[in-house]
Amino acid sequence: MKSNYKYGSLASFVEIPSIDWAKGRPQIFPVEEPLEIEIGFGTGEYLTDLAGAARGVNFIGFEQCPTRIIKTLRKLHQEGLSNVRLMRIDAAWGFEFLLKGAAVDRVHCLFPCPWPKKRHAKNRLFQAAFLTLVRSRLRNGGVLRVVTDHHPYAEWIEEQLPGTGFSLQRRMIGAVHGTKFEKKWQDGGQEQFDELLLTADQPYRYQEIGVSAVTVYFCRSFNAERLVLEGISGRITVSFPDQLFDAGRRAGMVHAIVSEDGRMQHVWVSIDPTEKGWCVAAAAGTAVLPTEGVQKAVELVYQAVEKSGR
Ligand SMILES: C[S@@+](CC[C@H](N)C(=O)[O-])C[C@H]1O[C@@H](n2cnc3c(N)ncnc32)[C@H](O)[C@@H]1O
Repeated sequence: MKSNYKYGSLASFVEIPSIDWAKGRPQIFPVEEPLEIEIGFGTGEYLTDLAGAARGVNFIGFEQCPTRIIKTLRKLHQEGLSNVRLMRIDAAWGFEFLLKGAAVDRVHCLFPCPWPKKRHAKNRLFQAAFLTLVRSRLRNGGVLRVVTDHHPYAEWIEEQLPGTGFSLQRRMIGAVHGTKFEKKWQDGGQEQFDELLLTADQPYRYQEIGVSAVTVYFCRSFNAERLVLEGISGRITVSFPDQLFDAGRRAGMVHAIVSEDGRMQHVWVSIDPTEKGWCVAAAAGTAVLPTEGVQKAVELVYQAVEKSGR
């Protein structure tokens, strides 16, 4: 049977839960510059080529699809590349938290999901807010390069640009990257693609999102039968769709969905008996970024646990 798990080595993979946020921005490479990023690297053809051609440059890839990450790990291993780190993360969070204070040289994105239906345009990645965020992580003169198969998306990105700090050069190019999706469009008969070269050389303003370690709470008593979880809505929205308990109802996990600043995270909050009492915390091993919304979710669970034991 063909296995997807032949990734060769996990050396290039960085797990979000392994990051200690209390220490501030994580050091991903021993020496961080020069630094280039690929967003949505898919099965990694382009990232492997870039990193192989510039071994003195560090590359970070953000991708959400696990099987594509595994395929890319395999390629990096086969090529013996040590200058790449892959993260399973929404690029928006990656830029927000992992690259805060960085001076990135270049950002690449080939064939971002175009969301062609008008009512889905709100899901497109390269909206003004994200462009300003990327601009804030680029060094002055750094470049964001986007290639898209969807001409209306290129037009739409151009409309987003005022105030984001970029100047634009646009042209049509042929198929030169050899990626899975480029081949797919080529097989479908498309030969020309929109290239947008966005240079970080204009003024912009970016409001940072606060981040700090999420509080760990301790409660004296807990009664799983009486646990009532209430979400909140507003700038931060928290809902609690699921709860799990062990057979003796002596430990629990609460699933929270947190939306804030137009982004969403799934968070598991653990309720565990410890010597210091019932510990309520963002569950170990959860790939969660410690935002204000996550803090709020843990606090709401803590308050419900406290109440259940009274
Ligand atoms: C159309 S595919 C293109 C893949 C690759 N660049 C290629 O040319 O074959 C878009 C990729 O972007 C990833 N993606 C979409 N939104 C993302 C996001 N917000 N952060 C990171 N990756 C994302 C998807 O999982 C998918 O692999």
